Amino acid sequence: MLALASLSGASDADWARAGAAHADLALLGGIALDADARAAARDLVARGRDEFLPTDPLAFVDAQLAALDDAPISAGMNVRSATRDPIREAAAVCADHGAVLEINAHCRQDELCAVGCGETLLRDTDRLVDYVAAAHDAGATVSVKVRAEVEGVDLPATARAIADAGADAIHVDAMDSEPVVADVVAAAPDLFCLANNGVRDRATAWEYLAYGADGVSVGRPSDDPDVLRRVARAVADWERRRGDGERVDIDGEVPG
Ligand SMILES: Cc1cc2nc3c(=O)[nH]c(=O)nc-3n(C[C@H](O)[C@H](O)[C@H](O)COP(=O)(O)O)c2cc1C
Repeated sequence: MLALASLSGASDADWARAGAAHADLALLGGIALDADARAAARDLVARGRDEFLPTDPLAFVDAQLAALDDAPISAGMNVRSATRDPIREAAAVCADHGAVLEINAHCRQDELCAVGCGETLLRDTDRLVDYVAAAHDAGATVSVKVRAEVEGVDLPATARAIADAGADAIHVDAMDSEPVVADVVAAAPDLFCLANNGVRDRATAWEYLAYGADGVSVGRPSDDPDVLRRVARAVADWERRRGDGERVDIDGEVPG
């Protein structure tokens, strides 16, 4: 599985269609859902960052996913919210389109963290679990995007907690700590694990797959067909060899 990872202000339905020749899943957004998250997004725009700031975020989610209903790529929506109820509403919209609802517990910008969005959710497991349960109850396939190297956060414990709350997937930005993927997979083998950060070619994709990831995602070069083609080939090759029961060598190492 190769996914396209959200880039705020850029990851819309057109972006997803452009990557559909290579990727299996496009995670659109991120989109700010509630008043506090939207105020933070406006502050980010004021300092030059790209953000989606439609008048009606739920209508935006619906329209973007509807534009992909017949596309040859699965879709999801990455969402930020300081409160739970908009998560439930967005999840219901995603469920209507058979799309993934991805809760953003990842972004680290000060503006987002100040209102309790993004990676602050990693330090507030009770609230994160509440969001997951609400999205699950609304009928959506639920993913949580997380980041490694957040001080005081035990990512495998977070993975276990969200799995117990009804999450289906965890999308791990491993930063410079690639082996954390193996720890997350060991703690929550029932979650689909998508590994992210620096996936550009066979070596970087296979490293995450060897740690047990079910798939990888590409963010910044998600509009570069050469990178997507390279990674897609690497993933397909990995899946074929594993399917054939072959052991896969990475730089002389044989993963378990
Ligand atoms: C400009 C920009 C915007 C991003 N916006 C989001 C976002 O809205 N939600 C999210 O979960 N991650 C966001 N990310 C993180 C990416 O999805 C990805 O996790 C990160 O860039 C690392 O992957 P890469 O090395 O393939 O780029 C953003 C990254 C960049 C550079």
